[in-house]
Amino acid sequence: MRIKGKEHTTIWFENNIVKIIDQTKLPHQFIIKDLKIVKDAINAIKVMEVRGAPLIGATAAYGLVLSIIENNDQSFLKKSAQNLIEARPTAINLKWAVDRMMNKLSGVNSDKILDIALNEVKEICKEDVKFCENIGLNGLKIIEEIYSKKKDTINILTHCNAGWLATINWGTATSPIYHAHKKGIPIHVWVDETRPRNQGANLTSYELNEEEISNTIIADNTGGILMQRGDVDMCIVGTDRTLSTGDVCNKIGTYLKALAAHDNNVPFYVALPSSTIDWDIKNFKDIPIEERDSEELSHIDGLDENNDLKKVLIYPKKSKALNLAFDVTPAKYVTGLITEKGICEASSDALKKMFGK
Ligand code: MRU
Repeated sequence: MRIKGKEHTTIWFENNIVKIIDQTKLPHQFIIKDLKIVKDAINAIKVMEVRGAPLIGATAAYGLVLSIIENNDQSFLKKSAQNLIEARPTAINLKWAVDRMMNKLSGVNSDKILDIALNEVKEICKEDVKFCENIGLNGLKIIEEIYSKKKDTINILTHCNAGWLATINWGTATSPIYHAHKKGIPIHVWVDETRPRNQGANLTSYELNEEEISNTIIADNTGGILMQRGDVDMCIVGTDRTLSTGDVCNKIGTYLKALAAHDNNVPFYVALPSSTIDWDIKNFKDIPIEERDSEELSHIDGLDENNDLKKVLIYPKKSKALNLAFDVTPAKYVTGLITEKGICEASSDALKKMFGK
């Protein structure tokens, strides 16, 4: 998608270096960062220079390429794979991508290993773009149906950033929005700010602005009243791990938005590629929920009067803060799952049928 009119993807490979857009600096600074060794990839995932389930999976896959360039040794590769998986616990795409790479790379001792790794990571990225595009085309049908009845601007609420910056391109939750916009359907997006890291305000609003899609940032607590007033036609969110039961783990606050949507009969859709489905865990309480540094709550980044990025403390110094990064929305509150294969009910039967498991 576009930044300042120029097409970009979120990650690419040039002269043995992995290039990323440093998302900790957006929207105020656009900085392309080099990842040269596997530790750079692990760190980029941990500190969220790259974030979003599909993108951290792709970054981990590229991390294994860097590991091979650095030291072509199977035990080093195995350790790198473990460290990459442990960089963030909740998004299943991380483990999915590392396992997929290691299936191709384990036991390969020839010089061909680098080509094999590069081919596989390119395949992972190509597939993600295609899947996100298909999610968009499938989700477009829902928007078209709502538009055929309303014949006026469709108001869509989204949480966090499940946009192209969270994937390789298109995004998951935003892909139907981009496709509808391209078709000329008038769209307005309510963007949940998404405290504490503000991925909605900093990233979703930024990417929608760059694509000239009308959007308004709202505090995370505002969605409920907008739904009561009839100002939300549908919600679309992404996910970091969707269980085969249809339960959806996503950015903290998603659950509360789903409850409000349920109470107000607002359709609540979740967009996901199949790489985000966890076919093993059956009970949502077993999902590892990431707890991040409380400094993400107590401090906030912004531009000072000289246009320099600054971090400031916003809480009493003595106060404790709890920073849980994800929550789970039970399947019963999900209207449907928008996947690369089509739209299905959030249930084990529907998911099994759709993915032939
Ligand atoms: O903590 P983040 O910014 O990595 O969380 C991202 C989300 O919660 C997204 O909704 C999710 O990864 C879907 S990505 C298309």
